[in-house]
Amino acid sequence: VTGSEPRSRAGDKGTLEVDFDHHSPAFAEGAEALLAEIRHRCPVAWTSRYGGYWLVTTSAGAHLVMRDDLVFSSGRNSYGGDGLGKAIPKFDPGILMIPGELDGPVHRPYMKLIAQLLSPSRAEALQPVARKWATHFLDQVIETGACDLMYDYAVPVPGAVALEWLGFPPDDWRPMAQTLHDFAGYAADTPQFASALAAFPRIFSRCQEQVEDRIRHPQEDATTEIATSQVAGIPMSEQDAVSIVFTLVLAGLDTTSSLVGSALVHLHRHTEDRRRLIEDPDLLDLATEEFLRLYPPATNSARTVMADTDVCGVQLHKGDRVLVSWVSANHDEDTFSDANRFVLDRFPNPHHSFGLGPHRCLGSHLARVVFKEMLTQALARIPDYVIADEQVVAYPSRAIATGWTTAPATFTPGSRLTTAKT
Ligand code: HEM
Repeated sequence: VTGSEPRSRAGDKGTLEVDFDHHSPAFAEGAEALLAEIRHRCPVAWTSRYGGYWLVTTSAGAHLVMRDDLVFSSGRNSYGGDGLGKAIPKFDPGILMIPGELDGPVHRPYMKLIAQLLSPSRAEALQPVARKWATHFLDQVIETGACDLMYDYAVPVPGAVALEWLGFPPDDWRPMAQTLHDFAGYAADTPQFASALAAFPRIFSRCQEQVEDRIRHPQEDATTEIATSQVAGIPMSEQDAVSIVFTLVLAGLDTTSSLVGSALVHLHRHTEDRRRLIEDPDLLDLATEEFLRLYPPATNSARTVMADTDVCGVQLHKGDRVLVSWVSANHDEDTFSDANRFVLDRFPNPHHSFGLGPHRCLGSHLARVVFKEMLTQALARIPDYVIADEQVVAYPSRAIATGWTTAPATFTPGSRLTTAKT
């Protein structure tokens, strides 16, 4: 990171232009250190990459941006190019993502509908489903004493839970979850990434087919609830229902997988934390929040400024693009003491890993239920697992998401709890 004089474009006193690129290999390797340097020098910094954007690094700045979605829009506009406003640079996801790309009063009815479907009590009711699939996928490997903790466990379980909830048949679960993981976990020039990219239209068309089918043949599942609901008193359109289901598939699978993977790798590297959790499982609630704080699966989120405004003393102008770093806000020393350290029983822990404001994650309750069940089972059934350090591979980019691509492990073989093999 190199500093320079205040940015001449806005002429803002005290703002620094920095050479920063959240897509760079340097960011993937050492995001925390790069962000700390910027946060300490200039909490709201300007970088000229991708046409230029503001980088917001503090907790206070994240609150200011994320709480006002009329000034800081998630929607489509031509500022900074065409496509998804939540990403820098923009790209076209093929469909307007609902509710993620809506703002203000248009967003709220959709948000409320999904919030009801994923309320704390509805998420808790899915705990037996999480238990069933965590048991099932551990059963597939437990007798062998070896597995890939990502592909055999962290990837398929959250996918099976979310997709069963949405009513997709089991044949869809593994390919969908694996496609989303490969997409995040492999560099753009690899065959794995190419086949994940090629499989994306299939995920979308499966969401379309699923909605069409549930409109004709309602069932007891979340897709039926979405497709047959009303939004602000108007029946849900088929297109909007497809967008919501597609959004839930994209947002709900590899995020939880990433968190499980990060926690399992952390507990491999910090056996004292593992021992504490095994001896006192009641600590898992607090530990879950600390895993979220230190290893946020979603690293950044972008917005577009729709009216001249001020963020922490820095003047932003209509049309400016803004990137809020969840990683950096979670390390903000003004909010978190000893911010670089994993404190298993940290409390309070007001981390930002589920975002904040109107677009705060709607799946946070389900994510916590699935994560805790998966950690509980892993620590009970393969408590001595060891990950092959030389084979564990991180996502090549941390521009949007972070996590471990693969994490081969060995452990003392155990017994299956169920009999059915897949
Ligand atoms: C550990 C797991 C998860 C993490 C860290 C996470 C993180 C996030 C973040 C940071 C946002 C806000 C993005 C923004 O403001 O631009 C978000 C939004 C969202 N998440 Fe999650 N998520 C997780 C799991 C899930 C799950 C399991 C689901 C659903 C099954 C889900 C559904 C959504 C939806 C629908 C939104 C959009 C909300 C809106 O725009 O109103 N997420 N998530």
